[in-house]
Amino acid sequence: MRKTQVAIVGAGPSGLLLSQLLAREGVACIVLERRSRAYVEGRIRAGLLEWTTVELLKAAGLGERMMREGLVHDGFLLAFEGRTHRIDLKGLSGRHVLVYGQTEIQRDLGEAAGCRVVWEAQDVSLSDFDSAHPRVSYVQDGVRHSIECDFIAGCDGYHGVCRASVPSDKITHYERAYPFGWLGILADLSPLNEELVYVNHRRGFALCSMRSRARSRYYVQCPVEDKVEDWSDERFWSELAARLPAELAARLVTGPSIEKSIAPLRSFVAEPMRFGRLFLAGDAAHIVPPTGAKGLNLAAADACLLSQAMVEYYRTGSQTLLEEYSSRALARVWKAARFSWWFTTLMHKLSDDALARKLQLAELEYLCDSDAACRVVAENYSGLPWPRH
Ligand code: FAD
Ligand code: DHB
Repeated sequence: MRKTQVAIVGAGPSGLLLSQLLAREGVACIVLERRSRAYVEGRIRAGLLEWTTVELLKAAGLGERMMREGLVHDGFLLAFEGRTHRIDLKGLSGRHVLVYGQTEIQRDLGEAAGCRVVWEAQDVSLSDFDSAHPRVSYVQDGVRHSIECDFIAGCDGYHGVCRASVPSDKITHYERAYPFGWLGILADLSPLNEELVYVNHRRGFALCSMRSRARSRYYVQCPVEDKVEDWSDERFWSELAARLPAELAARLVTGPSIEKSIAPLRSFVAEPMRFGRLFLAGDAAHIVPPTGAKGLNLAAADACLLSQAMVEYYRTGSQTLLEEYSSRALARVWKAARFSWWFTTLMHKLSDDALARKLQLAELEYLCDSDAACRVVAENYSGLPWPRH
């Protein structure tokens, strides 16, 4: 039986960042990932980092390429009923955000990984996490391997095995699935606008984002039942153009997509995030709808809080931060869950109800007229301050 200090399940951003933060402090860990490295590094997902996440990645030794290639944004546009309003993030919150793709972060983390990743580890299972000697096991090349550890970090996403291993009477799930999804495309075309544009249109939401000055990322709201095959590139571009204010639509450059996918939207929080010596982090514990780009940032915040708690334990023997991990993480999670839910309901077509539409437009107009309301948006979007300890 092999031994390590921390067994981490999942090599997404939360698992790899946790491994990097622990390894830098001399804590031994092993990461078990079900998929291949190429698959994990090729997944197109998040694109926007809060500045606290940027600082954390820099402190973890991952800043060099990120600061060279990432795009600093000081604001974004809200568009509705043919008009646009800029949210001045820098002016209203004193902070900016960074456009830098999750694929790039995965690559940077993969190259830096301070500890061992077992790729394509099948049938991971956990046991004894309510004892002092938890175990994880996995199958590779037809052989089952076991690892004894001090702690297990469940960083294995929404569909992972870690949360599912907790007895149902020990965990509470709060969940809402939205009746729509985001159809996203990636294209090697120059972005429509210097800054991101979030669009509320009676046909549905749209988002104009980017990965670099030469690579655009666009999304349109679609029925959750739609299939990617229903959406040719031509249909996508004409739907996007129909949702943009005329002067932005006129600037839209179209071309072949290099990736196209549909993501369902969900709000989900599991409480608590600690079960004996098993700790959940990132999407394993919570999912937010993507509007406002909080998911990856929450995953990074969890990895930071958990690494601090584990490092303190190995340095001093104190369990205080381990005991506080769940409540400290959840305080931040619920605030991001609230903002993501609010921004989603403000910007999407929720139903055919005429009253609901009028109320949305009244709220958007109120936002345009009120510095105080815009400041609330800017503070939440650019990232709330981290809890102190
Ligand atoms: P994941 O990235 O899901 O990683 C979990 C890992 O665990 C995976 O590699 C998986 O293969 C592995 N795994 C699962 N089960 C097992 C098992 N049984 N055994 C071993 N390994 C297992 N967030 C933002 O902050 N900003 C954005 O702009 C943004 N945009 C998004 C756009 C889209 C279209 C989507 C879908 C998401 C977006 N997000 C965004 C959310 C963000 O991508 C996630 O919150 C983030 O990936 C969570 O990281 P994680 O490491 O917790 O989980
Ligand atoms: C992206 C995704 C988001 O959810 C968002 O609010 C901003 C940007 C993106 O994938 O680029």
